[in-house]
Amino acid sequence: MSKVTKDIEAPLAKVFSYIDENKGKFVETLSQAVAIKSVSADPTLRNEVFKMMEWAKTKLLALGAVVELCDIGSQVLDGKNVPLPPVLLGSLGKNPKKTTVCLYGHLDVQPADKSDGWATEPFVLTERDDKLFGRGSTDDKGPVLGWLHAIEAFQNTGSELPVNLKFVFEGMEESGSIGLDKLLMKQKETFFNDVDFVCISDSYWLGTEKPCLTYGLRGMCCFGIEIEGSSKDLHSGMFGGIVYEAMSDLIYVLSQLVDIKGNILIPGINEGVEPLSEKEKELYNKIKFDVDHYCNEIGAYKPLKETKEELLMSNWRYPSLSIHGIEGAFSGSGFKTVIPRKVIGKFSIRLVPNQDPSRIAQIAKAYINKIWEDRQSPNKLNIITEGDGGNPWMTDPFNAHYLAAHNATEMVYSIEPDYTRGGGSIPVTLTLQEVTGKNVLLLPMGAGDDGAHSQNEKIDVRNYIEGTKLMAAYLHEVSKIK
Ligand code: BES
Ligand code: ZN
Repeated sequence: MSKVTKDIEAPLAKVFSYIDENKGKFVETLSQAVAIKSVSADPTLRNEVFKMMEWAKTKLLALGAVVELCDIGSQVLDGKNVPLPPVLLGSLGKNPKKTTVCLYGHLDVQPADKSDGWATEPFVLTERDDKLFGRGSTDDKGPVLGWLHAIEAFQNTGSELPVNLKFVFEGMEESGSIGLDKLLMKQKETFFNDVDFVCISDSYWLGTEKPCLTYGLRGMCCFGIEIEGSSKDLHSGMFGGIVYEAMSDLIYVLSQLVDIKGNILIPGINEGVEPLSEKEKELYNKIKFDVDHYCNEIGAYKPLKETKEELLMSNWRYPSLSIHGIEGAFSGSGFKTVIPRKVIGKFSIRLVPNQDPSRIAQIAKAYINKIWEDRQSPNKLNIITEGDGGNPWMTDPFNAHYLAAHNATEMVYSIEPDYTRGGGSIPVTLTLQEVTGKNVLLLPMGAGDDGAHSQNEKIDVRNYIEGTKLMAAYLHEVSKIK
């Protein structure tokens, strides 16, 4: 890897030292955040998400920001009305001579339980071998705290904050950001009217060594295939051979969605997907990515594609379909010789530019209905589509904003960043681009092996601390754009 040496410009030297000196304190703050079980998917933990948003408000107030927790109503979950956590909108500084940067992050997390196979308690931040293990450490509490600590570092070293800041922190990202778009759209002419750039730190490096700048994300559409076969669960001895079974129907339908090579079997699914240009192909050649190492890391037997380029494209620029689970099916250990009365198969499709979530939902439904017709089952089918789905997002990274982040990366890591896309989704990305009319940059803090959404999620101390410096350096660099 070719080394780049960049001078650390005036206020940043002090800021960087402050960040190094306060490492212990910053780790402690992360452990406070991780201890709050802000799982957005679990209605019984909704109060923890509220607590998390209050916690963030207190932190921002201490930095001198003006903060509002905006009520966005409620949702229906498991048949009950559940209040949505408020969205935090904040601002710090309004000097008309300074650039205004809007920062987005999420403070909710995926569910986690020690019994899922964690080596440590998921909500107790645990340091081992310079890694900080805990749910939300990398996705996305660590990066959100990185911003707060970068600001603190400017303030406590007597360096003026180089930009005005606006904050959008939410507590529902892991559950599709319900209610967020509507709120943000309403703020287009007010809160967002003076924003010059948007930055999101909620993606990851590809590997563990080389920093990246992310310029694309996939969108997403979620489905439930509900099949009902009887009015109650049945003993398979007494009723096996008597009834059409809902579970067999469901397995049949699910098996028709995607083939062994990961090709989605829904007709028309690839319509509109951008053809690959020579220029784009070149971008992939340059990226450092070791397919075997990547597969070893996750313990997978064989990748779906052979080469680095094919594999990355398959994750970033083509849609994919994943089956997540079956509600209503027996899943405990041992045998329960039951025929479930009703089962719901859950799957999602990751979308790429030009794939509109509502069109995809429509063609997927039509295809499932066709398979159902062929099946000739007397059981009841109901296709559920969840939320509005998230839009895919992509930007041209060859602009002054990305260049500022590129320079900041070189200053902190002494290496040029890779330009990568992400296979995951952050539903609000396109919305933030639209309500501000400005460029959005994704600046990752965590590494590719952090295990977001997985057991033993972690962030390396190096990424947490150097990533905080990167945020400070980015704010410094972006303030210089004319
Ligand atoms: N941090 C991820 C998004 C991400 C994943 C970016 C991988 C780049 C690579 C985010 O917190 C997330 O997990 N989002 C959900 C959104 C969904 C529920 C709409 C996702 O992608 O599953
Ligand atoms: Zn996530």
